[in-house]
Amino acid sequence: MTAGRILTEAAARLAAAGVEEPGLNAQWLLADALGMPRLRLLAEPDTQVLPAARRKFEKGLLLKEQGLPLAYILGWQDFRGLRIKVDGRVLVPRPETEELAGLAADFLRGRKGPLSALDYGSGSGAIGLWLASELPALKVTGVEKSARAVKCACENALDLGLAERVRFVKGASLSARSEPFDAIVSNPPYIPTRVIPGLAPEVLSEPRVALDGGGDGLDVARMLVRLAPSRLRKGGALLLELGEDQAGGLLAAMPAALWRDKRTHKDLRGVERFVFARKK
Ligand SMILES: C[S@@+](CC[C@H](N)C(=O)[O-])C[C@H]1O[C@@H](n2cnc3c(N)ncnc32)[C@H](O)[C@@H]1O
Repeated sequence: MTAGRILTEAAARLAAAGVEEPGLNAQWLLADALGMPRLRLLAEPDTQVLPAARRKFEKGLLLKEQGLPLAYILGWQDFRGLRIKVDGRVLVPRPETEELAGLAADFLRGRKGPLSALDYGSGSGAIGLWLASELPALKVTGVEKSARAVKCACENALDLGLAERVRFVKGASLSARSEPFDAIVSNPPYIPTRVIPGLAPEVLSEPRVALDGGGDGLDVARMLVRLAPSRLRKGGALLLELGEDQAGGLLAAMPAALWRDKRTHKDLRGVERFVFARKK
């Protein structure tokens, strides 16, 4: 059967299963099964799909119908051009987090000398690894509560050849174990506990510890705001990603005696999602 016909049928199956963007998901799965770039697949719809590729594709399609994130099926997620290995041990990095990493890079580029950053709640390691890949003078420490996630992040650091400048450690608080940082960057779990049961099946297949931010979703974010001043260099920045309607309130709770240049940033969808502030 041709790739074009398979894609049409698969998209209909995924749509019937309630999968969002069924056509795009089908394209990624077939491109992966054929080992060819997705855009080439689209340009060559008459490509014959041989049985081995067909079997691999069917397996992925079934998993997608069951609500598994595409990135878990493929085994990777693109993060600002970096291929990050992901599986059930870690959250799939989101596009908003690419924006957070961009804000952190913009800030760090304006500072001189050897630089250090903390990626708190590092998950797959996407933020810290991308920052290190962009900024040759930067050393990154990733702190993460889940031992399974730390292992995944370390694997990514090795695969990407960044292990000399990026290390990941297990931890659940912002303890003073090293020199202060130029930036603390975090995409903490920020979903209020009561909201979790109603999330889409795809999201629910990701680790709960990566989602659940406690009663109002801000448990980890508040801890970071409280402890970050003791872990930042003077003029260093705290950059956080939060959920809708959370950034303004958290920013207001950051004392002017400790912080300057306090502001929120909108994401590309216009949601006020990021908090930025510098230590006085
Ligand atoms: C929303 S995920 C972000 C993962 C990754 N940084 C990203 O952006 O894709 C939050 C991460 O924080 C970790 N985490 C949750 N509570 C934590 C805590 N108290 N201390 C450290 N890490 C925590 C979770 O295991 C998860 O990996």
